[in-house]
Amino acid sequence: MPYVTNSGLTVRPLSNALGAEISGIDITGDISQEQVDAIRSIWNQYHIILFRGVKWTPEEQIAFSRRFGPLDPHDATPFSRDEKHKELLVVTNRERNGKPSESRNTGRNWHSDYAYTGQPSAASMLYSVEMPEAGGDTMFCNMAAAYDDLSDKMKDIVGDLHSVYDFSLVAGLAQRTPEYVQEQLRLNPPVAHPTVRVHPDSGTKALYVSERASHFDGMTRAESLPLIEYLCAHATRPENVYRHSWLPGDMVCWDNRTTMHVALADFDPKEPRHMLRTTLQGEKSGYLVPGVLGAA
Ligand code: SIN
Repeated sequence: MPYVTNSGLTVRPLSNALGAEISGIDITGDISQEQVDAIRSIWNQYHIILFRGVKWTPEEQIAFSRRFGPLDPHDATPFSRDEKHKELLVVTNRERNGKPSESRNTGRNWHSDYAYTGQPSAASMLYSVEMPEAGGDTMFCNMAAAYDDLSDKMKDIVGDLHSVYDFSLVAGLAQRTPEYVQEQLRLNPPVAHPTVRVHPDSGTKALYVSERASHFDGMTRAESLPLIEYLCAHATRPENVYRHSWLPGDMVCWDNRTTMHVALADFDPKEPRHMLRTTLQGEKSGYLVPGVLGAA
């Protein structure tokens, strides 16, 4: 049931697991600090927030996003950022400079943004400009609930682990250019992060492991993989997922510390899907480790 907060925002939960649509505010205009705080508090509660019918310029998207924290210049994925605004990542299957876009099949396995870097993203804010007639959906899962639902014994086990993220496990690399893959691997060597993270604002504990984790530090891949697969399957059970069907003008903001997402290839690739993402910089985290997958 939708409800109205003390600050006058209307909140409509999107699923039992996570997500809420916020209305009753024009985010293209000036918003007060009180409104920013109110949005942040809803965001912390639902992990994903949605604003519909947004029409704005890239500069306005950047200005709105910046109200929630410093923006990432996307140095970890320079091929996909906007030429004029480094704060914008272009997620598109439109050609770029006469060539297939390197982001045309971005996000095809469950992940949290920039987990393969030493400064994983705090949050991402994705604005939909053009969508295919059918499909092009994104699924999100709640990693805080996934952690809560584990047995106490399993919580102890994962609490001791570090997940090693390896860029070569990003899905769809076979369709990218060799130059792209080589440069991305050079920029993003394998990095280990705690498998359980504590959200800096809410104190919520969440699982931090994904289909892009090669192994747990100190364990072999063969030893790690069954547990990685179990945790991913556990986190992405249908009842722990919200599937978003985009409309042009949707702005979906997700917390990368408490969610994972996957962009589905459930649409006709001949139809354009064009989106602009701002990314909130997270805290520095993790340490570099030798990879176990070898040359990608
Ligand atoms: C991403 O992983 O940031 C892109 C998500 C999407 O294209 O739906």
